[in-house]
This record gives sequence, structure tokens and C-alpha cells, in this order.
Amino acid sequence: MPLSETPGPIGIFDSGYGGLTIYEKIKETLPQYDYIYLGDNARTPYGTRSFEVVYEFTRQAVLKLFECGCHLVILACNTASAKALRSIQQKDLAGWDKNRRVLGIILPTVESLGNITHTGHVGVLGTEGTINSCSYDIEINKLYPDIKVYSQACPMWVPLIENNEYDKPGADYFVEKYIEQILKKDAQIDTLVLGCTHYPILIYKISRYLPEHIKIISQGTYVADRLKDYLIRHPEMDEKCTKNGNTLFFTTESVEKFMNMSSVFLKDDIVAEHLDIG
Ligand code: DGL
Repeated sequence: MPLSETPGPIGIFDSGYGGLTIYEKIKETLPQYDYIYLGDNARTPYGTRSFEVVYEFTRQAVLKLFECGCHLVILACNTASAKALRSIQQKDLAGWDKNRRVLGIILPTVESLGNITHTGHVGVLGTEGTINSCSYDIEINKLYPDIKVYSQACPMWVPLIENNEYDKPGADYFVEKYIEQILKKDAQIDTLVLGCTHYPILIYKISRYLPEHIKIISQGTYVADRLKDYLIRHPEMDEKCTKNGNTLFFTTESVEKFMNMSSVFLKDDIVAEHLDIG
């Protein structure tokens, strides 16, 4: 399908519900823009999938958002940002439309760290895909070579959230387990990055097992601030983003399930539509 030149909404993509934690902060910061949120709930989780599969699924989602009229797409998913962002930016965009843009959420998160850690020892929690890609280590090292990074994959957390078990007593076992594992890696960690957009939903349980002096970094605010800044620095893109304050929500899974679960992530009720992207 040829891509339309008409201005359109900003696309926000995640493998499932997690990106709603980013959408919420973006919407708070930039309420005047229009958005399309797309959750690939039918194929979540991405965190345990190979590079090739995450890249292909993310390509399909981004192209679909472009076809829906978006000129700018945010990958509100660390796994997709870690495994697909660079290839999409370097290989695919030129063939689709060299004026469209795809941005990830790892860099805005990393940029915030310099002002936050005092010990220079930072912990990063994420999916297996994000942690094994070493994207956080690489980006932190480029910007802040003195910061030491300790990482821990938390493969059970996304399924607990996607299956609505995040506030049940069973979840405590897995929250405590991964927190204990990261803390064991280094006693000087003073900042803990929640490097998966699902994890803020577990924040109350995470704080329960974390010493009080350790600061938890939830990505939403940092991503929203960087996006605001990006739109100011790129007026040519800002002109292509419509501003009526509307959001459309799409899921690749059941619409009823998406609307029910979204209340865990968002204050307002939403209406969602089904979309096939594969
Ligand atoms: N929310 C996604 C992230 O930020 C991944 C969840 C998944 O495993 O699909 O990494």
C-alpha cells in the first residue's frame, strides 16, 4: 500500500500491554497530539524470542503503523528497541519512506542516568532478549564510560503481568528472586533501571524487596521528555503529527481482553479495535 503524505498520529508500539506505561506518560506530557497504540498481544512475549523473529514482528508492526498514517513511530518496547530498531532505521526506512522515523526507548532512558547515580553502579532489569543483547551496557558505556552496569533477566515477570497475576501472592516469589539476584551482583548499586515497559506494573512489589536508598528508574517520564524535545528540534516532523488529542488503540488479540487489561495500566477506560499485522 502506498504511504500517505497526509499528517497523522504518532504510533506507539509494544509487544503487548507494557507500552501503555510509556503511552500514559507521553499523553500526559504531549496531550495535544493524536496517537495510535498498537499491542501485538497475540504474539507476546517477545522477550524470549530470537533476534530474527523480534525483528520481523517489529518490522510488520512499524509498517502497519505507517500504513495507518503515522510518520513517527515509538518502539515502546525495550526488546524491540534492542533487537529491531537499528536494522529498521538502517535497512528498512529508506525503502519504505526516507522521511518517516522510528525511535526507541533505550537511549532516552540511558541519557537520564548521568544525573541520577551517585555511586556510578547501575542495575538493569529486562527481558532475556534485552539483557542478552547487551544494548544497555553498550549505550551506557558510550555515554558514561565510568558507570558500571550489572544486568539481570527477569523472564517470569512479563507472563505474570500479561496473565493478570502481577498483584497475586505468587508474583512475590519471582519478584524477590530476581531482585535478590541483581543485588547479589554488586553491593554499590544505587540505581535500578526497569528496562522493560511492563515492569512499572510491579513497582510496589519491587520496592518491597529493594533497600530504600536504591532509586528505581521507570522509563515513561524520560521517554516522554525526550520525545517533546525531539519534536521541538524537528519541526518538519512535528508538522506531520496531527493534534486533536485523540488516541486509537489496536490489538492483534481479543479486543475484550485488551480493554479489560488496559485498566491495570491506564486510568481511563478505552475502546480498542482488532488489527492483523502478520
Ligand atoms: N514490554 C517489552 C519490553 O519493554 C517486552 C515484553 C515481552 O517480552 O514481550 O521489553
